[in-house]
Amino acid sequence: KWTHREIICEEDYMEVRTPIIAQRTASSVWQLMVLQSDGQVSSMSISEAQQQGYSLTTTAHRVVLRSQYKQPHAELIMVDGVPMEVIRISLFLKQKLMVMMIDVSMACTVSKFYTDTPEQEAGAGFESRSVNLGVEGLLLDEPTTAARGFSVVQQGHLIQIGVPFGAEGGYRKSLVENSVYKEMYVIFLMYEHVFSLLYDDGSSIDTRHRMLRVLDTPLLCRPPFSFDQTTSDDQVFSVYLGNIPADVLLEEVQINGKQLMMSEGVGLGYSISPIVHINGSRAYELRLPFEDTLVYRMYLGQGVVQYSIDVNFTLTIMPQRASYYHHTFITARVFNTFPPEITAQCSDGGLTFSVVRPPRAESLWEVGINHEPLTSQLAEQRGYRLYNDTQRTTLEVPVFSIGYNYEDINLSNFYGTFKLVLRDSKTLEVQTSTSKRCLFNTQDMIVCSADGTMTVVTTPTSTWPTLQPEGTTLLDPTCGPKQTDGARVLFEFRPDSCGTRAMVRIQKMCKCKDVVQFSKLTVRCFYPLSGLNRLSVDRIFSSATPGFGSVKVFKSIKGQSVINDAN
Ligand SMILES: *[C@@H]1O[C@H](CO)[C@@H](O)[C@H](O)[C@H]1NC(C)=O
Ligand SMILES: *[C@@H]1O[C@H](CO)[C@@H](O)[C@H](O)[C@H]1NC(C)=O
Ligand SMILES: *[C@@H]1O[C@H](CO)[C@@H](O)[C@H](O)[C@H]1NC(C)=O
Ligand SMILES: *[C@@H]1O[C@H](CO)[C@@H](O)[C@H](O)[C@H]1NC(C)=O
Repeated sequence: KWTHREIICEEDYMEVRTPIIAQRTASSVWQLMVLQSDGQVSSMSISEAQQQGYSLTTTAHRVVLRSQYKQPHAELIMVDGVPMEVIRISLFLKQKLMVMMIDVSMACTVSKFYTDTPEQEAGAGFESRSVNLGVEGLLLDEPTTAARGFSVVQQGHLIQIGVPFGAEGGYRKSLVENSVYKEMYVIFLMYEHVFSLLYDDGSSIDTRHRMLRVLDTPLLCRPPFSFDQTTSDDQVFSVYLGNIPADVLLEEVQINGKQLMMSEGVGLGYSISPIVHINGSRAYELRLPFEDTLVYRMYLGQGVVQYSIDVNFTLTIMPQRASYYHHTFITARVFNTFPPEITAQCSDGGLTFSVVRPPRAESLWEVGINHEPLTSQLAEQRGYRLYNDTQRTTLEVPVFSIGYNYEDINLSNFYGTFKLVLRDSKTLEVQTSTSKRCLFNTQDMIVCSADGTMTVVTTPTSTWPTLQPEGTTLLDPTCGPKQTDGARVLFEFRPDSCGTRAMVRIQKMCKCKDVVQFSKLTVRCFYPLSGLNRLSVDRIFSSATPGFGSVKVFKSIKGQSVINDAN
């Protein structure tokens, strides 16, 4: 039902609809007169007005004037800080001898703010009848408006309308810009205000003022946030990732640069759980045990172990699959965790290590010999003795077993050194090492050191017939013993000297009466192939580990030979 006057402020035009006194035939408009605030009046014919972008329609009862915005005759005025476009036009209608003048003025806001400032006519009072809101050109009833959270507040001449972001009737749009999730909200809103002009004579004229506007918010950033809810007692990292929009999926999680499998497998140790709050906001919770292989850990000393994770969440808008990231670094400390304590002492014929394991040390540290972890199998293979009592593990390493390094060998004594390392059981990074150097009595032996030097101590007098130790040589007769004591000899030579090859012989010919006899010792060093760094191509020998030796004795009497194998 039409009110007396209808004003519509559309997106791109303004319109006023006003009644005229009932005519039998459509009236003919004579001319338009534009009033300006400085008092100037300019008039134009209908055709001139049409050229200027006005449109005028008259029927028997009504006249409709429509105008574009920003007409030359329009005036921009500020009302309570809100710009309004105002056109004051009077229309002259001619009927027979009568000339009628009709006010077809109109005013619309040009900003996104909604205002309502009906022109106050002289002698007329203003009275508001109703204010309503609508969406997409349709009015909403009051309960619906309230249910959607729309608000209408009048402050003096201003009416302020509030629309919650994301309210039903409008639509959201999300995108990723500079790696940040951004969203906007758009709604096509209608505002309708019906008011009356009350005249002194008791009569009134109703005006329906309607405005239709597409409202959009600027792009709003919606950064995710995270907080650390880890408690060291649980030994589990717990990270809360919040402010996740409804169209976003947690697609990937990287821990310390490695991807965490997102499938929620049983027994993986960690979990990623989505959380939906009552207010609709979404979040995720990541739980990851300190013991997980992806977690970094560091022993800070004084019983403090620090665990750390660098987490990179990949969040993806669906369905357009645009990704953005959230990064956080979290550390947690556990106290009273001490590494095993290793002590060593020399014993007869070997060396004894004692490893005291405090509680919890078990999973964090590993005791090893070079690159191998110290296990019962290793001990068995190499002839060590390994046994446990309540708190400590004892390792006895007999001299000449694998793992020793020998130095300062002479015919009476030599030093043997053995080293245990303490490694991080996960990264295998060596944290500390304990090495012990012990003095041992020299006996018949062969030592193959890592630089290829062979040291042999032997007792040639034990052969028959007796050989004089001073008379023995290597294959190269110019290479004599380093030391002799009348009974034993000590040879020391490098593989690139004294004509040594892969095999070395110590020999002595003995001419006793008419029997030609000689005794021959073959000493050999064996090195694990995997440990060899440089071979004899450039005649420089180097091995990661010492080798082990073998001595073979050939006794030859008139072409017969006897082999005594003495490894
Ligand atoms: C929704 O609820 C959560 C948890 O109570 C709160 O952290 C968040 O700020 C709320 N979001 C909004 C938009 O109110
Ligand atoms: C997170 O991961 C993405 C994709 O792998 C990468 O582009 C981004 O640089 C990472 N952010 C950080 C802080 O490591
Ligand atoms: C000693 O105890 C440790 C830890 O309980 C165990 O791993 C190891 O096998 C035991 N060794 C021996 C020789 O019993
Ligand atoms: C043998 O070496 C030990 C240790 O280096 C040294 O104390 C000792 O005097 C040496 N003995 C001989 C006979 O050279």
